[in-house]
Amino acid sequence: MESESYNALVAEEKNGSYVQSVKTLNTSDLPDHDVLIRVHYSSLNYKDALSATGNKAVTKSFPFTPGIDAAGVIEKSDDGRFNTGDEVIVTSYDLGMNTPGGYGEYISVPGDWIVPLPSGLSLKESMIIGTSGLTAAIGVEKIGNQQVKPGDGIVLVTGATGGVGSFSVTLLAHLNYRVLAATGKTDQADFLKELGAARVIHRDEITAVPNNPLLTGKWIAAMDTVGGDMLDAVIRQAEHNGVITCCGNVLGHQLHTNVYPFILRGVSLMGIDSGIALMEDRMRIWKKLGTEWKPDTLHSLARVVKLEELPAEIEKILNGQQVGKVVVNLRD
Ligand SMILES: NC(=O)c1ccc[n+]([C@@H]2O[C@H](COP(=O)([O-])OP(=O)(O)OC[C@H]3O[C@@H](n4cnc5c(N)ncnc54)[C@H](OP(=O)(O)O)[C@@H]3O)[C@@H](O)[C@H]2O)c1
Repeated sequence: MESESYNALVAEEKNGSYVQSVKTLNTSDLPDHDVLIRVHYSSLNYKDALSATGNKAVTKSFPFTPGIDAAGVIEKSDDGRFNTGDEVIVTSYDLGMNTPGGYGEYISVPGDWIVPLPSGLSLKESMIIGTSGLTAAIGVEKIGNQQVKPGDGIVLVTGATGGVGSFSVTLLAHLNYRVLAATGKTDQADFLKELGAARVIHRDEITAVPNNPLLTGKWIAAMDTVGGDMLDAVIRQAEHNGVITCCGNVLGHQLHTNVYPFILRGVSLMGIDSGIALMEDRMRIWKKLGTEWKPDTLHSLARVVKLEELPAEIEKILNGQQVGKVVVNLRD
């Protein structure tokens, strides 16, 4: 293919702070990987906002095009597994970290990062799910693998209106778990109930508890997206043999807790890193997400924006103000 100019949201440093704007780039500037993809949709994750605002732990060098998620159509492939015209998904690996990401109309990636679009999902639906949804799905699978069944009790979700949280609520409810959604935005209770939450509480109800090493058990499982003191409070209020997943550090990376929930109640704490999920695990989970794990309420989760609208959305996610999932339309 001849090199082609395309639009991308570029983050760069200006006068000591990071700004994002839509610029015209050229495919000849993309890394020389085996597969060139015309991106149709991307999505906004917390990590994208960190990259877009110059967080060097995520992205080392700028100007840079963020976007850890992309769904689109293969334009050119030197990898025998893929053909021009294939609809595909790429999430995480190095995309949008130090490899130009899904906020550009083209990406160039190694074939090993590519998941064929599973049947049952459109490109847009795959980006409503995106990395945050994949992370939630990995957590739900871990809880199920620990033999927590829908009738066993309450499953708590923290950061419930966020990207990971809102898909966790949606998927758990779809699988008939009884979901308790904890949020700082109680004005979004109707949204969370529409996704399937049985009950919505203010997140302070989780953390405003005595500092005892063990408290009354309230949930058989929990999906924590927040970390820090929230995660400690979640652990101390888990029931016997409770299962807790941990994926986020919105409240900080430190975890101060105690051993009694683990040694006196058999509580399990399970980490999730969707970025390094094995390809066989991704394929299995994406397949489920297109079939028996595809929630009817999927479209209620998302708002669709254009590249130009992303800077305002990035600011909102950094301030903890997003509700549900922001999908980026790069097709039209
Ligand atoms: N390990 C992995 O594989 C992986 C993958 C994806 C994301 N993550 C991480 O998971 C976390 C969530 O990601 P996301 O994309 O869902 O982000 P997000 O959309 O911004 O959601 C985070 C949610 O946390 C809650 N929150 C914000 N500030 C808070 C505070 N001060 N105290 C308590 N809760 C607060 C808010 O929900 P409420 O207002 O509803 O409380 C917010 O919507 C991030 O740390 C992200 O880096 C990890």
